[in-house]
Amino acid sequence: MYASSDQVLTVIEVEGVSKVFPGERSRPSTVAIEHLDLQIEDGQFVTVVGPSGCGKTTLLHLVAGFESPSGGTIRVDGVTVTGPGADRAVVFQQPALYPWLSVWDNIAFGLALKHGRRGVDRSAVRGIVETMGLQGFERHTPYELSGGMQQRVAIARALVVSPRILLMDEPFGALDAQTRTDMQTFLLALWRQVRPTVLFVTHDIEEALLLGDRCLVMTARPARLARDLPIELPRPRHYSMVLDPRFTEQKRTVLEILRPDGDGPLAAAGAEPATTP
Ligand SMILES: Nc1ncnc2c1ncn2[C@@H]1O[C@H](COP(=O)(O)OP(=O)(O)O)[C@@H](O)[C@H]1O
Ligand SMILES: [Mg+2]
Repeated sequence: MYASSDQVLTVIEVEGVSKVFPGERSRPSTVAIEHLDLQIEDGQFVTVVGPSGCGKTTLLHLVAGFESPSGGTIRVDGVTVTGPGADRAVVFQQPALYPWLSVWDNIAFGLALKHGRRGVDRSAVRGIVETMGLQGFERHTPYELSGGMQQRVAIARALVVSPRILLMDEPFGALDAQTRTDMQTFLLALWRQVRPTVLFVTHDIEEALLLGDRCLVMTARPARLARDLPIELPRPRHYSMVLDPRFTEQKRTVLEILRPDGDGPLAAAGAEPATTP
C-alpha cells in the first residue's frame, strides 16, 4: 500500500503476472494469463468481463491466494500474496454453505474459527444478518432457503470478518433475472455502506457496467487486458440506467472489443451472451 500525490491508495497490484497450468501426458499445458498488469485502488468496485474460459476465475484465484502465479507478483497492501488471508473474502457462483449448519452458524463460521465458538462477536453476526435481510431465518438450514437467500448467507459470511477485499466470481450467475436485479441493488447498497474493495467477475456486460467504477475487459485466453474502461455513470446506480445513452455507448464499446470482427456477440471471441440483470 502506498499513497500517491492525491492520496489514492493502491490495494491490489498485479505486476507482470502469468499463469500456466502444466499439461499431462495427453493434455497440453494451458496459458491462462499472460503478462497482466493491474492496479486497484482502495474502495474501488472493479468488474471483469471476458470470453468464457479466458482466465477470469484464474485471476480471482490468484488474488485470493488459492493459486500462485507462474510469473510476476501479486501484492495486497504492498505485501506479496503467498496464500489466502482474512483480508480477502471470496464469494463463488454457487454459495458454498455447510448444509448441516444453521444460517447463523454458517455466517459465524469464520469468526468461530478465528476466536473459538465462545469468542464469536454475536452483535457483529446480528448486524450482518440484519443488513442482509436474513432476520427470522437464523435457525434455518441452507436447503430451506431460496437460491437468492443462500447467496445472501454466503455474502454475509464473507462480510462478517470485515474483509478489506471482496472477490466475487459470477456470484449472481445462477440466479433468476429478478433475484439477480435485487441482489445487485443489495450489493451496491452494502458497498456504499461498508466500502470494501471489490473485484467482481461476470460474463454479463450489463451487470459489469451497472455495478462497477471500472470495467476490465479481458482478451480471449491467455487473458490480457484489452481495455480498462472507466464507467461514466453517476451513483447511486439504478437498473433503469441501462436505457441511459452513456450506458448504451459503453456497452457498445465492450461488445466491440469482445467481437472485433463484427460477426455478432457470440463470434470468434467466444463471448457469452449478455443477460438482463
Ligand atoms: N486447475 C486447472 N488446471 C488446468 N487448467 C485450468 C485450471 N483452472 C483453469 N484452467 C484452464 O485455464 C483457462 C482459464 O480458465 P478460467 O480462469 O476458469 O476461465 P473463466 O473463468 O474466464 O471462464 C481454461 O482454459 C481452463 O480450462
Ligand atoms: Mg470462471
